[in-house]
Amino acid sequence: MPETVLKVENLRKEFGGLIAVGNVSFEIGEGEFVGLIGPNGCGKSTTFNCISGLLEQTAGDIEIFGQNAADMRPDEIQNLGFTRTFQHTRLWRRMTVIENLMVPPRNQFAPNRLLAIFSPRTRKAEAERLARAYAVLDQLEVPHMAHNLASELSGGQSKLVDIGRSMMGDPQLLLLDEPVAGVAGPLALKIFNNLRRIVTETGISVLVIEHNMDFILRQGVDRIIVMNEGEILMVGTPEEVRSNRAVIEAYLGAAGEDETEGAGEEAEASE
Ligand SMILES: Nc1ncnc2c1ncn2[C@@H]1O[C@H](COP(=O)(O)OP(=O)(O)OP(=O)(O)O)[C@@H](O)[C@H]1O
Ligand SMILES: [Mg+2]
Repeated sequence: MPETVLKVENLRKEFGGLIAVGNVSFEIGEGEFVGLIGPNGCGKSTTFNCISGLLEQTAGDIEIFGQNAADMRPDEIQNLGFTRTFQHTRLWRRMTVIENLMVPPRNQFAPNRLLAIFSPRTRKAEAERLARAYAVLDQLEVPHMAHNLASELSGGQSKLVDIGRSMMGDPQLLLLDEPVAGVAGPLALKIFNNLRRIVTETGISVLVIEHNMDFILRQGVDRIIVMNEGEILMVGTPEEVRSNRAVIEAYLGAAGEDETEGAGEEAEASE
């Protein structure tokens, strides 16, 4: 078993009387590529929001790289080497792709504004960020998009830039919330192929939410966590998930089939 980089123990999140996340425990190991799947409203994004410090959990423990992150602020958690993306992508629309990538990295050198203009250190830091941004676009196999305006991108391309943005701070643990929702089939496959390759080549750990079970089962993830109604239904390899009766009933039953078909149509429509 690889070293644990994320440990979630008995996580619970209530919104008033609603139990969005009931009692969730799981671990992610170093260099693992893991899928998180479950029907609409089962608590996937809420789990991410608690891990990343945006929501205070009602109960439970969260450890990131062996540190107790349960009460840390989002910026403190980011400084541990953690980054996440959001289900709804928002880029700076009037900026180019490369500019969008250069904004978010952590630990940026920040002297006062006037000094910053003249400081050679600022210029050096900026040159490094620019080089990093081009390297990230290379990793994602879209260097040609560097100077496109964000407002000109398709939905799928925007998702890709958002992933690129999350990689800029060189995270060791990356949580992606539905990075291919609404993305047409071929680009969705390309995004997952790239993620698989990046995990294998760099040894970072990636946890990715995906709502299409059929799709995630074919994407070469190491393990899949299946949630249902705020609880973990099972954790296993794609083969184990595919043949698990509880999963078939809860997720691939009538509601699951409807959702899978809907996701396909959405994908067709958006690119
Ligand atoms: N800020 C909030 N305030 C109140 N209820 C919320 C809030 N965020 C989420 N919920 C509720 O918590 C439950 C879990 O929502 P969550 O967004 O985590 O589900 P999800 O698994 O990500 O769903 P989807 O697949 O639709 O993205 C839902 O019933 C949702 O309506
Ligand atoms: Mg969600």
